[in-house]
Amino acid sequence: MKLSLFPVLCLATAVGLVACSSDSQSPAIETAESPSASGDLSVWPALKQTPVDPALESRIDGLLASLTLEQKVGQMIQPEIHHALGNEVRDYYLGSVLNGGGSFPQQNKHASLDDWLALADDIYAGSMAVEAGTKIPAFWGTDAVHGHNNVIGATLFPHNIGLGAAHDPALIKRIGAATAREMAATGIIWSFAPTIAVARDDRWGRTYESYSESPALVAEYARAMVEGLQGERDSAEFLADGKVISTAKHFVGDGGTAGGSDRGDTQISEAELARIHSPGYFTAIEAGVQVVMASFSSWNGDRMHGHRYLLTDVLKGKLGFDGFVVGDWMGHQFVPGCSATHCPAAVNAGLDMFMASDPNWRELHANTVADVKAGRISMERIDDAVRRILRVKLRAGLFERGAPSTYKLAADTTVMGNAEHRAIAREAVQKSLVMLKNAGQILPLSPKQHIVLAGDGAHNIGKQSGGWTITWQGTGNSNDDFPGASSIYDGFAAAVKAAGGSIELAEDGNYQQKPDVAVVVYGEDPYAEMQGDTFDLGYRSPENLALLKKFNAEGIPVVSLFISGRPLAVNPYLNASDAFVAVWLPGSEGVGVADVVLARADGSVNVPFSGKLSFSWPRNPQQAPQNPEDAGFDPLFAQGYGLAYGDEDSTAYPLPTHRGEIYPEDANELPLFVYRPVKPWNLLLQDTAGDSHAVNTASVRIDGLNLNMQDRHVQEDTLHLAFTGQARAGFYVDEAMSLESFAGGSWVFEAVVDKADALTIGLDCDGCGQVALSAVAEVTDQWQTLRIPVACVADDLSKVKAAFYVQGQKGAALSLYNLRLTKGDASCPANLKQP
Ligand code: BGC
Ligand code: BGC
Repeated sequence: MKLSLFPVLCLATAVGLVACSSDSQSPAIETAESPSASGDLSVWPALKQTPVDPALESRIDGLLASLTLEQKVGQMIQPEIHHALGNEVRDYYLGSVLNGGGSFPQQNKHASLDDWLALADDIYAGSMAVEAGTKIPAFWGTDAVHGHNNVIGATLFPHNIGLGAAHDPALIKRIGAATAREMAATGIIWSFAPTIAVARDDRWGRTYESYSESPALVAEYARAMVEGLQGERDSAEFLADGKVISTAKHFVGDGGTAGGSDRGDTQISEAELARIHSPGYFTAIEAGVQVVMASFSSWNGDRMHGHRYLLTDVLKGKLGFDGFVVGDWMGHQFVPGCSATHCPAAVNAGLDMFMASDPNWRELHANTVADVKAGRISMERIDDAVRRILRVKLRAGLFERGAPSTYKLAADTTVMGNAEHRAIAREAVQKSLVMLKNAGQILPLSPKQHIVLAGDGAHNIGKQSGGWTITWQGTGNSNDDFPGASSIYDGFAAAVKAAGGSIELAEDGNYQQKPDVAVVVYGEDPYAEMQGDTFDLGYRSPENLALLKKFNAEGIPVVSLFISGRPLAVNPYLNASDAFVAVWLPGSEGVGVADVVLARADGSVNVPFSGKLSFSWPRNPQQAPQNPEDAGFDPLFAQGYGLAYGDEDSTAYPLPTHRGEIYPEDANELPLFVYRPVKPWNLLLQDTAGDSHAVNTASVRIDGLNLNMQDRHVQEDTLHLAFTGQARAGFYVDEAMSLESFAGGSWVFEAVVDKADALTIGLDCDGCGQVALSAVAEVTDQWQTLRIPVACVADDLSKVKAAFYVQGQKGAALSLYNLRLTKGDASCPANLKQP
């Protein structure tokens, strides 16, 4: 998984000291207080408080009295399973562990049910092996955000954006209950879900984890999901066997950051924060949610992990939340004055458990103990944090349940991905589909004709499932990784065959027999946090547009099934389609798509379209943010839009298009690599023999080149290339495109260069050359910003195949960060000119 190369962050603290987070020594902390201002509590509702349970509290009193300071602090630290297992739980009295996205028992992606349970038992056993004092059972938290999605064979429900389109809280509750059962089968009883973000700028890469841009819908769903996962509060099923602890995340304002930037800053008034981003917390708390996760983001410049007013005064005070606040993935390190291993300010602000996912959590433990001894954190604050954690553990019956393998559903092989759960997921898929166009009422399609399924999403369960699917970013999966699941094609094939029609899978559109209709499945590739952020809302796929147009030219009607984690500007694709359906990220039950799009054999509607947009759909790539309350609100399709069978479509086709929708030509900067290749550019590698290789995992080894995604500022944001022979890595498009407007421009990127003389960079186009990196770069282990005029390699940019490539010889290595082409009129300096 990830290395922890955290950035050297030197931050001025409130008292003017400078703290560097790369320094493993504790920074000098004069004040352990966060700078967060106080606010206006009257904008927050007073929720019905959970009645105090005197018996429970006195049991906690007894437990607290028996714990040492080291044991208490251990309860407050949650390492990742890469860095702590049962023995560490025992030795440091850890309260919990987590597995991050794409982290598995023994780091085996194909870990079996027994492997998951064995690790859950190991963690529990560690907590029971504590020698002196009281034994507090440890528990394991996981991101079960669309089903138990780290586990092979689990039912994968549509991501939240699709569930939002279904507008069905009762369904959400059933999904929560099914997810809880699948988790219980692996012995894990704490989920980091639901995400109740209200995404307001769809450039955010986590938009699909949001149910809606509408606070009201998110609030309804938050209640339903918490009740589904935990059971209804005040009922016998609440946190009983087969139920799990739920986490409302990320508190608060994660969906409101400026520019939709992940972990960014939400710059709005307190009243808006309460009105837009918080209603989901109100209902989740009323439903008895036991954990709230602090957001990576800031509110008006103040980091949420250090925000005493919002975490303590608002959440625990006014809103009466009596569970505990967990941090998010080392999020405490960004609080001014803090580092990864030391952060009293977060505890003082109200953080109860550190998500201490990096390898140095032991130092965090030691530093926090020292903070209490030195008076930087009060004993009362520690006792309050641990009381909250124990309250949740007691409520969940952890002290009585015993080892995870003894849970009622544990090891039950009939639970994971069972038919009942898959039926719920299939129903959710059916209800999530939103029909945006249906010219001439072409849908539903008769299953008795000859149908071609085309597009790279047609038979691709990984693509249709999106991020947080087995792996963190959802990349690197193949259909074999989804036993029991169905692709969209699988669903069509079964129905068409049963009705006596015929079907052909031709992803590239090259069919054998001319079809009566082409169904083209395409859209966004999987992504998750950070890597999914985009600079605008354009969907750009010249290949897929060409595919639609090929069918148009042949007189074959086209149905587009668009896979995406957010609404995107798709005017050219809408124009080239007879029907267009937003299918979002349906998950493992692709079969649910054909249920709605295909008619019954007798021509009647099988399942009707009922999905309605829970996000407004843009007219052009620049239309973000776009919410009903925003000034100039003018979407192509507003929230609530969605055609039903028989509806008249009043949209005026053809919709206007401009080149920028196909290539981002009107932009001043052409991003090529920002955390990952930016569409339409694909990263391709060329081995020593000149053969090409696509890249879809974080680490690739070919003849001549090893590629690894590394961590610079955040996880996997840096492309590291180590050459073992002559090889190449470049950003390519399928069909050559014109970059003439960038002719006087420059490549701009940050790099660490090892052996510059063995590295050249260039453009791939007719008559284009290369330039040696030695002419511009220094060989050091420091990051440098390079700016190289493209005029050094090319005069004619009318047909570019790769907008940048780097070629290396054995022994050369390069780290590359944030690569783009900028416009300008830079000529090539004489020392860079190629002979
Ligand atoms: C982990 C994820 C985590 C992310 C945080 C990844 O390396 O696998 O689970 O959410 O980092 O940035
Ligand atoms: C994400 C959280 C997630 C956590 C653990 C973080 O990076 O923001 O949503 O629960 O990692 O994987």
